[in-house]
Amino acid sequence: MSIHINADKSAVADKVLLPGDPLRAKYIADTFLEDAKCYNTVRNMFGFTGTYKGKRVSIQGTGMGMPSMSIYANELMADFGVKTVIRIGTCGSIHPDIRLRDVLAAVGASTDSNMNHDRFGSISYAPTANFELMLRASEAAHNLGIPIKFGNVFTSDKFYDDRLEEKTGLMREYGVMAVEMETAELYTLAAKYGVSALSLLTVSYSLVTNELTTTEEREKTFNDMIRIALEII
Ligand code: HPA
Repeated sequence: MSIHINADKSAVADKVLLPGDPLRAKYIADTFLEDAKCYNTVRNMFGFTGTYKGKRVSIQGTGMGMPSMSIYANELMADFGVKTVIRIGTCGSIHPDIRLRDVLAAVGASTDSNMNHDRFGSISYAPTANFELMLRASEAAHNLGIPIKFGNVFTSDKFYDDRLEEKTGLMREYGVMAVEMETAELYTLAAKYGVSALSLLTVSYSLVTNELTTTEEREKTFNDMIRIALEII
């Protein structure tokens, strides 16, 4: 039991998928898991536990942005003792090599957030993914015939940012693939608590071409990413 997750410790598996949208958590539980049970409804931030190919897995919504992700990740890691977390989310491409519907894996996360300045002071900490999970994601994507790209992402505090072009332009110059809003905090907390973490992302929007995926395309590419996540967790 924690402040935002009203469940017994035993109700949550030690491997958790983290979609931002709680209704996505329900969709994944309904579509991919067996015997899924909802363990949390606080603030409608649903969490479910079930099995996938016999493995016990939980799916917990995190909300949007680092402060919200930070609440759920902290409680899962510190209070529920989870050992493996995989974010499954969407992102906007900021690089011409990254196309709409691509599945990405975040090796590291650059950020404009103050959260790590507040933690580390003058040190610029580098939040990174777990290497083992990256290897497994590469192998699973290959076996499933789903192309996957590995690289840096930009975890931004603002979706609507007056300096968006300036910041994403600078990130693009340094090879950053896409912008999203949660990974830097997830990876930092995972390091603090000794948890294995990976962010998988599908490109739902291109800031390079201004193309947007349709609802059906979003569902198909999201399902591809979920399959990879469930295979490796
Ligand atoms: N910006 C920030 N986060 C996002 C975006 C975006 O364009 N698309 C999906 N998540």
